Amino acid sequence: MATLPGKEAAAQVFPADFVWGVSTSAYQIEGAVAEGGRGPSIWDRRCRTKGGVGDGSNGDVACDHYHRFGEDIALMRDIGVDAYRFSVAWPRVLPRGRGAVNQVGLDFYDRLIDGVLEAGITPWLTLYHWDLPQALDDLGGWTNRDCAGWYADYAALVARRFGDRVKRFATFNEFSVFTLFGYAIDWAAPGVTDRMAHLKAIHHVNLAHGFGVDVLRSLVPGASIGAIHNRQIVLPEGGREENMAAAALLDEHWNRAFPDPQLLGYYPPQIAEAIEPFVVAGDMARICRPVDWFGLNHYGPIFAKADATQVWGFGWGETPAGTPDYGVGWPIFPDAFRDELIGLTKRYGVPIYVTENGCGGDRDKPDADGRVIDTHRIKYLEVYHRALREALAGGADVRGYFVWSLLDNFEWGAGYGQRFGLIHVDFETLKRTPKASAAWYRDLIVNLRPLEK
Ligand code: FCB
Repeated sequence: MATLPGKEAAAQVFPADFVWGVSTSAYQIEGAVAEGGRGPSIWDRRCRTKGGVGDGSNGDVACDHYHRFGEDIALMRDIGVDAYRFSVAWPRVLPRGRGAVNQVGLDFYDRLIDGVLEAGITPWLTLYHWDLPQALDDLGGWTNRDCAGWYADYAALVARRFGDRVKRFATFNEFSVFTLFGYAIDWAAPGVTDRMAHLKAIHHVNLAHGFGVDVLRSLVPGASIGAIHNRQIVLPEGGREENMAAAALLDEHWNRAFPDPQLLGYYPPQIAEAIEPFVVAGDMARICRPVDWFGLNHYGPIFAKADATQVWGFGWGETPAGTPDYGVGWPIFPDAFRDELIGLTKRYGVPIYVTENGCGGDRDKPDADGRVIDTHRIKYLEVYHRALREALAGGADVRGYFVWSLLDNFEWGAGYGQRFGLIHVDFETLKRTPKASAAWYRDLIVNLRPLEK
């Protein structure tokens, strides 16, 4: 099993209050989509659209966390995490996205938050992890500028209700993934493929972030507010000249379309030019609000290729043959993680929390003794953990690390085919079984936690 760094050596790089956590999101685990007054989201719709999800599945039951959250909290306590990052489902608390509030939905999150706190775990609340209420999409969703205001009202509701117990808030999860895949590449809800729609969505989501920061700041005393960005190095497929421009544009969309305006006050050059018609005087100042931390979701590098059939002329290229992926499909390249963390500190100067990192795959199955020995995930976590230590030693200001994910869950377009959990979930019986990686993570946290904590 894993070699853990010596306590003294590790103490030199990890700040005493370093946060160890796990992440989930509402639609991926809760289930109970038609229970307790929840309204439909764009992902309920997409799951019912032919071809929307690879295996034709949906989040109707998922991990049934809505009913089993107590068991899931106990599992987190067993691992020994400091923090739990989850998201509130907007359509569970505002079934039509705005207007009538659903008390039953709010009560659910009250119970969840109280349970998490009782277990000695700090709740980290993400306001938006992709499940826009369908009723708002019917009005144009993120292509409608008013959506930023609807989001601000939703943020105020959540802040007022939970801000007495929750202090850590993320405005959004992975802005560029859900806007790019949802409005330019048909890989996510709402499945639009249109340049203008995509540009509007980018700008309105950025505005919503700015409003969200202000609302949280004014309503939650002591709030610590961040936003969660996916960032991965983008490389031209095959290192070929003809893919360079595609890689450069995808890099703007993937890595910079949100953090640059939010933290530096401007869009990257190609997007800036294209988005200009939708930018109103004062907008950039509304978007660029002071935040307390940068949430980084990072998996592996992306290879881009020129693809004239795509809305922006770029597509996803092939990973070079022989790239290690531990049989999972996503390339494993921990040095890029280290460099990303060091580069982020230099570029934005905001403390970083790694809010997602982890390893998927379709191989995790209980053995004859009922154990799930996920050696590939342990290997992945080990090498990324090494990269994290190198980043800290190299000057990156990283304050915490969250594994994606606590549980195997509904992996969006891949349905239930990709398992990312430290805990195995049997989707027939909903039985939870901690995998070997859960024990690995528990040991790592115990070893690195300062004695007084
Ligand atoms: C991220 C998402 C998360 C999960 C992981 C595997 O892009 O934020 O919901 O799907 O990837």
